[in-house]
Amino acid sequence: MAVERTFSIIKPDAVARNITGAINAMIEQAGLRIVAQKRVRITREQAQTFYAVHSARPFFGELVDFMISGPVVVQVLEGENAIARYREVMGATDPSKAAEGTIRKVHAKSIGENSVHGSDAPETAAIEIAQFFAGNEIVG
Ligand code: TYD
Repeated sequence: MAVERTFSIIKPDAVARNITGAINAMIEQAGLRIVAQKRVRITREQAQTFYAVHSARPFFGELVDFMISGPVVVQVLEGENAIARYREVMGATDPSKAAEGTIRKVHAKSIGENSVHGSDAPETAAIEIAQFFAGNEIVG
C-alpha cells in the first residue's frame, strides 16, 4: 500500500461547535498525519468550484450557503491508503447511516451539516489540495 495524501475540510458546523481538536484526535488515532492545516473562510466562488460536480443537484444551493456560513479548517492528511482510510474514519455521508465510532456518527447533525469532507479518489485529492494549499505549505 502506498503513502497517499488526501484533502480534508472540517466544515462550519464543527468549527462553530469548537470540536476541531476532537476531530483531529480521531484523525490522528486512525494513523493519519496532518501535514498541512489552516483556518479559512471559503468564498462563494470557491465553494461553487469545489462542489461543481453537484451543481445540478437540488441540494447545491444549500450546500454552498452552508460551506460559506462560517470558518472552516482545511487540511492535508498523509498516510498509508489515506484517501480510503479517511473516508472510513469520516463515515457515511448521512450520519444516521454512519458506522459507530466514525466522525460523522459521533459529531455530525444531518446529511447537509455533516462536519467533514474527504477526497474520494487520487485525482480529486490532487485537485482539491492544489485549490487550497501551495506546495510549500505542506510539510510531510
Ligand atoms: P457527496 O460527495 O455525495 O458526499 P461526501 O461528502 O460523503 O463525499 O456530497 C457532498 C456533500 O453534499 C455532502 O457531504 C453533503 C451534501 N449533500 C446533501 O446536502 N444532501 C444530499 O442528499 C447529498 C447526497 C449530499
